[in-house]
Amino acid sequence: MTTIPADCVSLFDYERYFHERVDPAIRAYIAGAAADGITQHENRRAFDRVRIMPRALVDLSTATASTTLFGETLDYPILIGPTAWHKLVCEPGEMATAQAASLTRTWMTVSTQASVSLEAIAQASSAPLWFQLYMQPQWDDTLTLVRRAEQAGYRALVVTVDAPINGIRNVEQRAGFRLPPGIESVNLRGLARAPVADSRAGSPVFKGMLAGAPTWSDIERLARATTLPVVLKGILNPADVAPALAAGTAGLIVSNHGGRTLDTVPATLDVLPDIAAAVNARVPVLLDGAVRRGTDVLKALALGAQAVLLGQPVLHALAVGGVAGVAHMLTILQTELEAAMALAGVSKLEQVPRETVRLLP
Ligand code: FNR
Repeated sequence: MTTIPADCVSLFDYERYFHERVDPAIRAYIAGAAADGITQHENRRAFDRVRIMPRALVDLSTATASTTLFGETLDYPILIGPTAWHKLVCEPGEMATAQAASLTRTWMTVSTQASVSLEAIAQASSAPLWFQLYMQPQWDDTLTLVRRAEQAGYRALVVTVDAPINGIRNVEQRAGFRLPPGIESVNLRGLARAPVADSRAGSPVFKGMLAGAPTWSDIERLARATTLPVVLKGILNPADVAPALAAGTAGLIVSNHGGRTLDTVPATLDVLPDIAAAVNARVPVLLDGAVRRGTDVLKALALGAQAVLLGQPVLHALAVGGVAGVAHMLTILQTELEAAMALAGVSKLEQVPRETVRLLP
């Protein structure tokens, strides 16, 4: 049985133990940012530059951290975001994560690149699941994944739009990361792959994977083809809000893929207020990227998010403590959020006042 070290009391502690215990090449894949890691670093710095302005003597007798999203109640506005191949760090892979999510009633987003079938995860889960969809080069393959997710009872499709190709992952390249034998994107078995570019025919980027990359009309087509809410993940520019809503999307996730795709794009927290203003409460806005503290969750909500998602912390906790690790990590963050609310005098999370936070110059 895995034992969780007694001094593992914060998400940063899980990260430290993850670095001590996990194979260097796998660590490089999980922790590695794109290129020089400027965006990944900025994601964290953006939270550290925000200060909370506490209110004194607030009546907290009816305080609650629960919120609603797509008409359903969430105990805490903290979701598990999509990350690939959980079997890299824990043999049962996504089955373990789903068990921890169910134990803590946390909503979980399952990646297209999960290492366990989306149906098996759904069968093992009692908490709501979302399916993260990478649109496939062939429309019929995309539709196959959508129908499978619908039939398995997933509640939303999260379409990732910031990674039509892989980022320049130098950390991963230097470490020589390769998927170990026996681990694969099982949900993509039998589906057509993006064309591999013939270098004699020109650019390996534009003539390769990008040839089948989706555009706004594909999102529109998808939204018409499914009964599930379509949530776009990877929006950073307020200019993309209007086309997203016009295409029929039901929610947006402000994300830069944890700094893993295009380096030097802005920190998610920095662009959140402008995106929330452009959305103007028409659909929910979520955020991910370097959320590690309960205070971070409160800050994101004060700046316009309805909920946040976690990427790396889930893999850190899974590597260190399996099911118990992930459940413990989620409980730590939930308790920290409640402590932050209590100490800042915030009794409800729907419409946290903007004045709850102050940006440092
Ligand atoms: C990711 N992310 C990701 N996103 C996605 O839409 N589909 C995926 O398959 C993956 N895979 C993936 C693997 C690993 C190892 C990481 C670290 C991340 C991005 C993820 O959903 C999220 O945007 C970021 O991880 C959020 O930042 P933090 O919480 O990791 O700082």
